[in-house]
Amino acid sequence: MRAWQVGELGLPREVMRLVEDARVPVAGEGQLLVKVRAVAVNFPDALMCLGMYQVKPPLPFTPGVELCGELPSGERVIGNPVAGGGAFAEYALLDARALFPAPPALDDAEAAALHIGYQTAWFALHRRAALRAGETLLVHAAAGGVGSAAVQLGKAAGATVIGVVGGPHKAEVARQLGCDVVVDRKSEDFVAAVKEATGGRGADVVFDPVGGDAYTGSTKCIAFEGRIVVVGFTSGTIPAPPLGHALVKNYSVLGLHWGLYNTKDPAAVRAAHDELTKLAEQGVVRPLVSERLAFEQAADGVQRVLEGQTTGRVVIEL
Ligand SMILES: NC(=O)c1ccc[n+]([C@@H]2O[C@H](COP(=O)([O-])OP(=O)(O)OC[C@H]3O[C@@H](n4cnc5c(N)ncnc54)[C@H](OP(=O)(O)O)[C@@H]3O)[C@@H](O)[C@H]2O)c1
Repeated sequence: MRAWQVGELGLPREVMRLVEDARVPVAGEGQLLVKVRAVAVNFPDALMCLGMYQVKPPLPFTPGVELCGELPSGERVIGNPVAGGGAFAEYALLDARALFPAPPALDDAEAAALHIGYQTAWFALHRRAALRAGETLLVHAAAGGVGSAAVQLGKAAGATVIGVVGGPHKAEVARQLGCDVVVDRKSEDFVAAVKEATGGRGADVVFDPVGGDAYTGSTKCIAFEGRIVVVGFTSGTIPAPPLGHALVKNYSVLGLHWGLYNTKDPAAVRAAHDELTKLAEQGVVRPLVSERLAFEQAADGVQRVLEGQTTGRVVIEL
């Protein structure tokens, strides 16, 4: 089969190689072989190429952490392939317990983009931060993959959503996603903008996939009893904050590692999938697929996600 492989660590565009005669993986116990139809590119695909992600598959490996595929029965499914035997290939292995029906309301590319981003945003907002209707939600990288999902789910939960983005094009995308207020971090001070939008009170919940200055600024505009959900560090800087500040201002810092729920509380992941399927049917959420690329363009797509140039999800279609 055709598959992308990473044989040495480095930038995606340099180390991802398209192999024509890769072996079709053989399903082990509890696994299913899926014919891949669409793969959503995620920031961790790039981090894995660089050897900078928490999961470090042995070389060579095939990247690609989420897909929409087809079972031999023809049923469309979505999910995360087993580590190392990734989705950028004609066939991939999935753990039977971590496989979900693709929502009929979504096409293959949209369905592929529903899983990680929306599950992560769902667990961040509802399970970790207990977001309530009427609260103010601040979303960093609001036009990005997980960020765009957090915007849509925040609006669906009845929150006022402030989106922070880098640049005018992303600002327009964030507005279309439903943000009530959009701040371009490249030309505006988001701390001042959040204070102004909330009458000085600050944001009740912060969804932060960026870290660095985004995290530090968030602590300056977090409301009394606010909750900051730490989702990722696309800025490249992992904050090491002074805890005295959290004490003095009465806010919480909540870590989120969504993948852990697949083993710690799989029923909650399935329940979230059912809710997301309903919201997709109602048209309340719709994954933003900004680009649909051919299989041969996968390395370029992963590289551009790493460089922060993309909006929503870039999806590779097979
Ligand atoms: N905790 C979890 O369970 C979990 C689950 C899924 C994903 N994540 C994490 O969430 C993060 C986002 O993943 P994603 O796939 O949705 O990516 P993404 O948000 O689509 O892309 C990254 C975005 O980060 C922003 N950014 C800010 N500074 C940047 C910099 N120096 N370089 C590159 N980008 C920068 C950019 O948006 P602006 O220019 O608009 O700021 C960029 O578009 C990743 O760190 C990923 O590992 C965590």
